[in-house]
Amino acid sequence: MKKMVINGGRILTGEIKISGAKNSAVALIPAALLSDGVVKIDNIPNISDIDALREILEYLGATVVRDKSYITIDSSEIVNKEIPENISKKLRASYYFMSALLGKYKHVEMYFPGGCSIGARPIDQTLKAFRALGATVKEEGNKFTIDAEELIGGHVYLDMPSVGATINTLLASVRAKGTTILENAAKEPEIVNVATFLNNMGAKITGAGTSEIRIKGVSKLTGCFSEVIPDRIEAGTYVLAGALIGKDLKISNLISEHIESLTLKLEEMGVPLKIEEDSIVVSKGEHLKPVNVKTLGYPGFPTDLQQPLTTLLTQCEGTSTLEETIYENRFQNVEYLNKMGADITINKRKIYIEGKTPLHGEEVSATDLRAGACLVLAALAAKGKTVVGNVEHVLRGYENMIEKLSNVGADIKEEN
Ligand code: EPU
Repeated sequence: MKKMVINGGRILTGEIKISGAKNSAVALIPAALLSDGVVKIDNIPNISDIDALREILEYLGATVVRDKSYITIDSSEIVNKEIPENISKKLRASYYFMSALLGKYKHVEMYFPGGCSIGARPIDQTLKAFRALGATVKEEGNKFTIDAEELIGGHVYLDMPSVGATINTLLASVRAKGTTILENAAKEPEIVNVATFLNNMGAKITGAGTSEIRIKGVSKLTGCFSEVIPDRIEAGTYVLAGALIGKDLKISNLISEHIESLTLKLEEMGVPLKIEEDSIVVSKGEHLKPVNVKTLGYPGFPTDLQQPLTTLLTQCEGTSTLEETIYENRFQNVEYLNKMGADITINKRKIYIEGKTPLHGEEVSATDLRAGACLVLAALAAKGKTVVGNVEHVLRGYENMIEKLSNVGADIKEEN
């Protein structure tokens, strides 16, 4: 298990460049196998989730070449075989292979996906979409066998705007016969990125980014060149670092519109921000006002920034509240923040943060990816030395985090 050792209290100044979005890249890579040609994607982040997907592609027989920020995928030699559980459970996004293989070969055998343990995370909406397209789903324990003689465009209504189910519906229906209408779709920028990528291959998708998406099936998809959008969650995390302990910290290569729900809250708190279209300059705020935040699907406040935001709320003067509406188990960071000096109480899906409380160094542990990011932020602002254990969770989602933070003045290193 790897650890991060952080000596807190160093002012962060300079520039942090944002990498490609994890949650887009992890969908584009499985989606690439729907193409009959060679696909080249730029701005792929260098994180372990990408390595896990590459392992699945290569296991299936694809040729994958990584060169700097590019990945080139040739799926022409793929053999559609069962994906073993030990590789599918490495990450949530492995289930995009379920829909991509089903969409191309009308048959797939694989196991329940992995992912951070932040809630039950069922896949019923994805299975419902497959059935709406005419597929049959056989479940034996953790294993799913999905077959269709033919996939036929259908009407899919999601019970909740699930990101995963929206992407899976796109991938399964893009080569189906006829038109699929997907209602109550998720509207996250990552969905638009996936739809644009598929359209670059020759798909006919309209409405991505709204709650109704129409997918007119095509019989063939060609090779293409595409790009991953900047990671809005990475961007938000570093903007929060600047609000905690920055001095003119510039976060660049982002799309500021994608994190407007965060920057509006920061302005409400009194954090000094200079917002441009593709960069944000942020400094530590004084006498921050408390705020009330509720997580929602895009364009609402993202659940993935809820835990990193909690660290900043400990520095507001008064009581802030944070309500988590997406996941039932996303407060595992609270115990450790309290150990570091915070005063937070949990009441079902809501936490109450009393501020301002000074933070001090402690031994803590990353229970999941964004809990880890929250603790790294706390460690940067805390007095003394913090050791964050289990940082494999953090490195799954943040490219070169140690290098990026060291470059702007943090005292941070990795230890085994
Ligand atoms: N849900 C169901 N049934 C389904 C699908 C979802 O009940 O079939 C529920 C989930 O349990 C959850 C809610 O609906 O309560 C939303 O889940 P969603 O499907 O939108 O999430 P996801 O696709 O599993 C992606 C990201 C998450 C991010 C969420 C929400 C990837 C690989 N993961 O997950 O990212 O929190 O969307 O924006 O794209 C992270 O990066 O730390 C992370 C967890």
